[in-house]
Amino acid sequence: MRVQDLETPAVLIDLDVMERNLARMAEYCRQHGLALRPHTKTHKIPELAYRQIKSGASGITVAKLGEAEVMVQAGLADILIAYPIVGREKAARLAALAERASLMVSLDSEEAVRGISRSAQERGVRVGVLVELDVGFRRCGLQRPEEAVALARLIQDLPNVDFRGLMFYPGHFMVSEPERRRLLEDVNVRLRRFYEAFDRAGLLIAIVSGGSTPTAYSSHEFAGVTEIRPGMYIFNDRTMVGLGVARLEDCALSVLVTVVSTSVSGRAIVDGGSKTFSNDRYRAGDGRGFGLVREDPEAEVEALSEEHGHLDISRSLRRYRVGERLTIIPNHVCTVMNLHDEVYGVRGDQVEAVWRVAARGRVR
Ligand SMILES: Cc1ncc(COP(=O)(O)O)c(C=O)c1O
Repeated sequence: MRVQDLETPAVLIDLDVMERNLARMAEYCRQHGLALRPHTKTHKIPELAYRQIKSGASGITVAKLGEAEVMVQAGLADILIAYPIVGREKAARLAALAERASLMVSLDSEEAVRGISRSAQERGVRVGVLVELDVGFRRCGLQRPEEAVALARLIQDLPNVDFRGLMFYPGHFMVSEPERRRLLEDVNVRLRRFYEAFDRAGLLIAIVSGGSTPTAYSSHEFAGVTEIRPGMYIFNDRTMVGLGVARLEDCALSVLVTVVSTSVSGRAIVDGGSKTFSNDRYRAGDGRGFGLVREDPEAEVEALSEEHGHLDISRSLRRYRVGERLTIIPNHVCTVMNLHDEVYGVRGDQVEAVWRVAARGRVR
């Protein structure tokens, strides 16, 4: 099948670019002695998780238990669920899954770990636990070293759970490069306070799991980090380019769309709107727009209706025709993947692979 035979809108993955992104990250981790545990919430496709393992990842990360279930079903054997598992039903599902794969979870509360311990004991399985720290993003994670030490001690005392180390997510690094430099210093001050407290308590930290795509290639500068969990690096997106984290030629994912109307002056309408691209905003530069039209940098994806993408072409010198096709790099790849049943791996104009986005919509 060729790209021109695909119906639109269609999510295209440029395989050459994706393979380069995977190889580069794996090589960086090898050079710096870091374990790579890519976050698969970006693509939600077991075949791509396998490619990451093949290119050097030691295991994978997921956000939700439902994603973990899909990955285990596909045979992936070493998974970190980087999300607090809270509630009886979820703890029971986690314990059932731990019969089939090696699982770790990150969490920051006594409630979460007690529930997991209880279910794991009932099932006769063991679950690894990372204590989550807040290093400035202010989402999840303990803020005070004494709290983290106390939770680690509780984990050591509870049956069927194993304290493995610490985890943090530097989600506040979606800022400019100079700002990221400043934040890095602040994170290191915080991390060292935690390490000193664990040292004083005589608690061994085997794993410190950090990393994201914006911080990935500076991971070796984060104090004590042993593994990283970048997700978006596999594809990159407009925001990563805007933040200077990736170049345009590092963007593997684009959405193939068709121009369906040009009747309003200064406008071209394409057949993908918020149900194709998601409404996620551009988190760099002037914050405007919903994507980058590869064929025409002067066009602005100004607005999205549910099924219509509104291109402002008033500054463009290009002539737009109904029926022609464009490729648009979205603001945020992860939410795009979650909206599509299948995506196409392409090389040149050939479609080499059709992948089902098996874990899309697995929010439970
Ligand atoms: C806990 C956690 N780890 C890792 C990542 C991956 O980071 P990125 O999306 O920047 O690749 C995310 C992303 O949301 C996350 O929430």
